[in-house]
Amino acid sequence: MSTTLVTNIGELVTNDPARNGGGAALRGEERIALLRDAALVIDGEHIAWVGAASDAPDADRCLDMEGATVIPAFVDSHNHLVFDGDRSAEFAARMTGEAYDGGGIANTVRPTRQASDERLRELVAARVEQARAQGTGLVEIKSGYGLSVDDEARALRIAGEFTDEVTYLGAHVVPSDTDRREYVDLVTGAMLEACAPLARWIDVFCEPHSAHAFDGDETREILGAGVAAGLMPRLHAGQLGEGPGVQLAVEFDAASVDHCTFLSTEDVAALAGSSTVATLLPGVEFSTRQPFPSGRDLLDAGVEVALATDCNPGTCFSNSMPFMIALAVREMGMTPAEALWAATAGGAAALRRGDVGVIRVGARADLAMLDAPSYLHIAYRPGVPIVSSLAA
Ligand code: NIG
Ligand code: FE
Repeated sequence: MSTTLVTNIGELVTNDPARNGGGAALRGEERIALLRDAALVIDGEHIAWVGAASDAPDADRCLDMEGATVIPAFVDSHNHLVFDGDRSAEFAARMTGEAYDGGGIANTVRPTRQASDERLRELVAARVEQARAQGTGLVEIKSGYGLSVDDEARALRIAGEFTDEVTYLGAHVVPSDTDRREYVDLVTGAMLEACAPLARWIDVFCEPHSAHAFDGDETREILGAGVAAGLMPRLHAGQLGEGPGVQLAVEFDAASVDHCTFLSTEDVAALAGSSTVATLLPGVEFSTRQPFPSGRDLLDAGVEVALATDCNPGTCFSNSMPFMIALAVREMGMTPAEALWAATAGGAAALRRGDVGVIRVGARADLAMLDAPSYLHIAYRPGVPIVSSLAA
């Protein structure tokens, strides 16, 4: 295997707090552990060396970064990429005051079921490529627009062609032509049997404030069945109002509870005492005109926070992690360092992965570069394409 020396890095964000003599207790810039005038060596798919450019060892080839910034590639831990159809009119209606309630999901299920495998594969490939071009190294992909045994299994199979982080979301909404009880039986029965071998995770849209989604009892039943079938739990919760989802996520030791737009004081306390990550999705608040939750309050309470795009046709059709960082800094009280950590190491924690979101020896060589002198420019220059994946 050949080695590559990436050198003359003006600012290297390692996300390796051990470099600053600390672990989880470190915050802000100390936690992202910057190195200046740095270099690293890549051996195949992994990082083999990290340090000062002046100490760098020899390698088979050399890539001169000319003072640019290098960061761990973004880990986008929440996506719904397997879909066809267009719902831009719903977005336009929301911008003039219409509320989001999950009812529009049916408008994606129809065209998605009708699309050929090849068409869906092409759509997902284009979306993954777009994310990669903006610095994303790993995406999680959910099903949830099939809602029948065959259509859910097909979505997971296609998702699995692009990532190992595949999530079974048969419990996205109850299809309009189906009895609620019968659908929960299907999601925990024949559909689970077909889907469990194709996924790593199970997710539920737990939202008592939506007539289409699932309440606490249903969520408990579905997550329980999924775990019994060997899947690991994660949850959509607190999107439209406070509810039982956060407590359930903690009870199930879910890797992540996502949205958290509405949280009670008890929810924050439960998260703080758990290993469940709170994944914030600021693109959803942007695209639905919901209030932004406070990342600041969660961080101050000691909760591990991740940022993800939730790229989907309904509540956020953006797969731009730099945009999410900018929103988190502007609207959620997070510092640029906290937002960058959340979009990289936070996403890795939300997927219980130790090999991504960090630049240290042994980690995957998933890197992004900034055409800028500092990581601060991600939030400072929103909408400007300064971030890209680093193919070494
Ligand atoms: O994460 N809330 C549930 N699911 C998606 C939206 C799905 C849709 O509207 O198509 C979300 O926001
Ligand atoms: Fe989602």
